[in-house]
Amino acid sequence: MEQCNQPERRDWAAWHDAYDDPGSALARRLRTVQQRLREAVDAAPPGRIRAISLCAGQGRDLIGALRDHPRRDDLVGRLVELDPANVRLAGRAARDAGLKRVSAVVGDASRTDAYAGAVPADVVMVCGVFGNIRDADIERTIGLLPQLCAPGAFVVWTRNRKAPDITPRIRGWFAEHDFEECWISPPEERAFGVGVHRFTGTPQPFRPGVRMFTFVGYDVLRNGSPWPT
Ligand SMILES: C[S@@+](CC[C@H](N)C(=O)[O-])C[C@H]1O[C@@H](n2cnc3c(N)ncnc32)[C@H](O)[C@@H]1O
Repeated sequence: MEQCNQPERRDWAAWHDAYDDPGSALARRLRTVQQRLREAVDAAPPGRIRAISLCAGQGRDLIGALRDHPRRDDLVGRLVELDPANVRLAGRAARDAGLKRVSAVVGDASRTDAYAGAVPADVVMVCGVFGNIRDADIERTIGLLPQLCAPGAFVVWTRNRKAPDITPRIRGWFAEHDFEECWISPPEERAFGVGVHRFTGTPQPFRPGVRMFTFVGYDVLRNGSPWPT
């Protein structure tokens, strides 16, 4: 399997441990994402709901949010994640939750190939991604989402609000690509940003083999060095 474009040294399974502390910023972010995701699924038209998650980790957002949702049996999902340990946990969690048509796969979420056969999606999760890639790649990824989105698709995304807060620019890029803003977390919540955008444009033909981003890692971005110690 082709790996992501640069070596990743973080322990991305351990990164999820902060979710287990209900008072942590990550746990608060998770509750927000889950609530917004439930609302997006509430609003989905009757019938099959296709969902994809980019860099899905252990899938805590989607699986946790939808395990008890009335539309859970309509859900067909693909969670794409590079770390096999996270994929195993996500797969087990989906099975335990009875989400029979949600699969977790080891794959490079940065390439459109990862979504062949799973798109156009009605729900696209881009959580824990925008803080780990360069600004130009955020813009590029948003520009490619019309290849992954069905008409009216909801995109649930996150990005920290550390200075300089680039969530206003992210919202601008969504607007440029025909996404209407449905919800944005209040700026008083400094620890994280969560947004929901709805695709109002015309879906673009899906092209496999396109790189959307390079997953650099937030620690590397902050240090400015591609080789953290
Ligand atoms: C910050 S975590 C976010 C996990 C999950 N989306 C969440 O919000 O809970 C980023 C995840 O991206 C994964 N990852 C990094 N590069 C990737 C790539 N090229 N393709 C798929 N997953 C990747 C990491 O293994 C890690 O689990």
